[in-house]
This record gives sequence, C-alpha cells and structure tokens, in this order.
Amino acid sequence: MLNGNGICLMSCKGGEYFANKILFHLNTFLEKKDLDKIKLTKTSEIQFKNTEIKSNVLESIRGKDAYIVQDVTNTSFGYSVNDNVMALKTLIDSARISDVKRINVVIPAYPYARQDKPFGREGITAKLFAKELEALGVNTVITLDIHNLAIAGFFDKCVFENLKGFRDLIKYVKKEIDITNLVVSSPDIGGLKRAESFASELKVNLVSIYKERSYVKLDCITKMFVIGDVKNKDVLLVDDMVDTGGTLYNAIKTLKEKGAKNIYFACSLPFFNGECINRLNKLYDNKILTKVITTNAVYHKQDFIENTPWFNQIDVSDYFAKVIFNMHIGKSISSLLQEIDN
Ligand code: R5P
Repeated sequence: MLNGNGICLMSCKGGEYFANKILFHLNTFLEKKDLDKIKLTKTSEIQFKNTEIKSNVLESIRGKDAYIVQDVTNTSFGYSVNDNVMALKTLIDSARISDVKRINVVIPAYPYARQDKPFGREGITAKLFAKELEALGVNTVITLDIHNLAIAGFFDKCVFENLKGFRDLIKYVKKEIDITNLVVSSPDIGGLKRAESFASELKVNLVSIYKERSYVKLDCITKMFVIGDVKNKDVLLVDDMVDTGGTLYNAIKTLKEKGAKNIYFACSLPFFNGECINRLNKLYDNKILTKVITTNAVYHKQDFIENTPWFNQIDVSDYFAKVIFNMHIGKSISSLLQEIDN
C-alpha cells in the first residue's frame, strides 16, 4: 500500500521557490488519495570561499522515490548557472548515497540546451550534461519545453519527460487577449512548430520571421525579415525562451516596421539576462510591446513581478505536481504531456 512517505521532494537553493510551490499542490493530490502529506526533505548546500559546493541530505530517505528540484537559472543569490548545475549534481550524489529507490530530477530549464548540435570542434554540451546525469544514477529527468526535443535522444538510460508550457500559456491568451485581429509569429524558423500550435489552437493565421545570427560575435543578429503579412494586425510572438532579449527586441522592431499593431510575447522560460529587461522596458515605454506572458518555472523576485507592468507570470507548479504525483503512483502521464487537455 502506497503512502505519502514513499515519495520525497527536495531542492537545491536555486529550486527552493518552485519546489515549495510544487509541494503545496503535491500535498493536495496526496491528501485526495488519503496519503500522508510530506514536507521538503531537509538538505544543506554550502559554497566554500573557493566556490566549491557541497550538498547533503540531512534525514533518512532510504528506499524512497526522490524528486530533486533545481532552477539552474536562478542567480538571484549570487550563484552562476554553473554553480547551480554543480549544486544539483552534488545533491543527486547525496541522494544516491542515501540509498533512494529512484532519483527523479526536476529541471524546468535544461542547462546548455542551446549547445545541442555540432559546430566545428565544439562539443555537444547538452549531451555531456545528459551523460553526467546518467552517470550519477538519475532515473528520470522532468523538464519544460526543451529547446530541441532531439536532446531526449542523448539519454540512453534515463526516462526523459518534456512538459508543455503551451497548456497554461494558451489558456491565458484565450482569456486575456482579443484575438479577432491576431496573427501568431515565431521569431525564427526553428520555433515555427511551436508557434503553429498556438495559431492552430486559436484558429488564426501563422507568420514567421527569418533570423540569422553571427557565430563570430556573441548575441548578434545579422539579418531579420518577416515572412507573411502583419500590416494592421496584432501579433502574438511565441518562443521557448527569452535570454538576452536580442531575438525578441529585433523581432518586435521588425514586426513594427511592417505595420504590426499590438505585439504580445509568450514563452515558457524567461531568463532575462544581460540587457533583456532594459530592452523590454524600452519597448513597453515606447508602446511597441504590450505584454509578456510567461511561467514561474524560472525564478524572479517578487518585487520585479509586482512592479513590471508588461510582465505576466502563470503558475505551472500544479502541472509539475500532477506529473510527479502520477509518476509516483504509477499512473499514466501521457495526457499531461499533450499540448491540450484531452
Ligand atoms: C533560439 O533559437 C531561441 O529559441 C531563442 O530565440 C533565443 O535563444 C533567445 O535568446 P536571446 O533572447 O538572447 O536572443
């Protein structure tokens, strides 16, 4: 007979916010099944003066189904992405040493996902990370809108589950945005499939932008033009992530030059690095950008959330909790991995 004690949820520092949100919903699901509620497993994580990191599970989790949450992009407390990746690896190792039954890693933002194909002598770092997780004994990886689904193929032993931000983003768009004059656009050809899902669900036209990047200069876009008609249309731009905002900034300016009216942007993973926030503030202040719709799978400070008029954050922690709960009780999750509820 299963009970809540058969599962444990823990987090690295970077994942604490999201893990607590997941915990709340997970306990609701456990209670509904008459299973005991759980608390976050006690762990410690310290960084030494030389920047090395040590993690430790502070209570017995022997024989449990362990879920470890980490937001590797959460740099709000002074860690780099690489520090967060190392913190994750050390906590996984501590869970393994604790003799858990299964190790499941919850990383909404898969690190190095954009290093997914070979260029010259570069390594495929998304694959390197996959191999590291497997070597550490990870059984399952749960992520959100992986940049390239081919990354699933880098895992030979791990089960790889790719959740879809679309499920919640589209609900928001349907409820909050007037779609009578709307077209959906991808900021580049690589994201066309994702944008197509939004267009077909909203039953509106799809356009795209052609983008060329410089592979010599960092974060430099060399060419952009619109394929399709956006004159006097509202445009919903859709992407998996926004990082420095270079792609988004240039895409929005290109759409505006072609006569677009209100421009909205939806993505699952809002990293907002470098000049991103300044760029988006500028577009909003100049009335070129109307709204950014995104998820809380990437951490942002409460102050930023409350004081940024263009920023709209959708809570996807209940979705993650449902997937975790179903996995734990051995129930199918396939309907949860579809873009739309069946
Ligand atoms: C590109 O293929 C991605 O989907 C994003 O458009 C891109 O990585 C975002 O990066 P940035 O915001 O720095 O342009």
